Amino acid sequence: MTVAEALASGGVEPREARLLLAAATGFSEATVLAFPERLLPAEVEARFVDSVARRRRGEPVAYILGHQEFYGLRLAVNPAVLIPRPETELLVDLALARDFRSVADLGTGCGALALALKHHRRAAQVVAVEASAGALAVARRNGVALGLAVDWRHGRWCAPLGAECFDLIVANPPYVAAGDQHLAALAFEPPEALVSGPDGLDAIREIAAAAPAHLVAGAWLVLEHGMGQDAAVRGLLERAGLEEVRSWPDLAGIPRVTGGRR
Ligand SMILES: C[S@@+](CC[C@H](N)C(=O)[O-])C[C@H]1O[C@@H](n2cnc3c(N)ncnc32)[C@H](O)[C@@H]1O
Repeated sequence: MTVAEALASGGVEPREARLLLAAATGFSEATVLAFPERLLPAEVEARFVDSVARRRRGEPVAYILGHQEFYGLRLAVNPAVLIPRPETELLVDLALARDFRSVADLGTGCGALALALKHHRRAAQVVAVEASAGALAVARRNGVALGLAVDWRHGRWCAPLGAECFDLIVANPPYVAAGDQHLAALAFEPPEALVSGPDGLDAIREIAAAAPAHLVAGAWLVLEHGMGQDAAVRGLLERAGLEEVRSWPDLAGIPRVTGGRR
């Protein structure tokens, strides 16, 4: 099989075929594309054919490649973690617009939020909590690979925070309603990273109830949530006693992040 024949493989998008082929060869996309007539060595062809078969079965490209870019950082991912989404970068932008010397990231997954914040605020104390031991292992490995010192803690939401208070708490918790039709397209990702009760708000209810006690006076709690959940999340934060509660829209104008101040 030549490079050109590989790129013409059916059932995957051309952009994905280029990524999978580059990964199978170990060279950059530009290098691979420069020699369309080149014959692929047998082991490269076998790796590529296997990747394409996985992609055709619906596996996300990030799991096949083993990494995903988030806020300019290359993060290792595997099926123990949610693949960080570009829309979550809004939460990082909002966090970095605030002044903080300490931050907690609840439900860190592969460490996306914690690592992006530590990368941009080297002097800050960054604590990251995760209930899944498998996910926390991925996050730890990402911290080591990037040389970013995050205090990784295993446990449920605020439980591992003890009596500590922070200048900022961020979370991108699971917020999909059980039985939601979109879950079919997310079958490769861990359900505990996605689903949160009948209306998708169970995790946010728990965080809204527990997190304010871990904020110093004037500190923000900022949460990502699903489309159409903003009014409910504002209500939960207001009932938890937070002030200046508001939501922020994503690039499509849809409110996807809500926060409040102690
Ligand atoms: C939507 S994912 C977000 C992962 C990562 N923060 C990101 O933005 O890519 C939610 C994460 O919360 C974790 N999680 C679910 N329930 C939890 C709980 N009770 N306590 C701590 N983490 C939890 C899941 O394992 C998952 O890693």
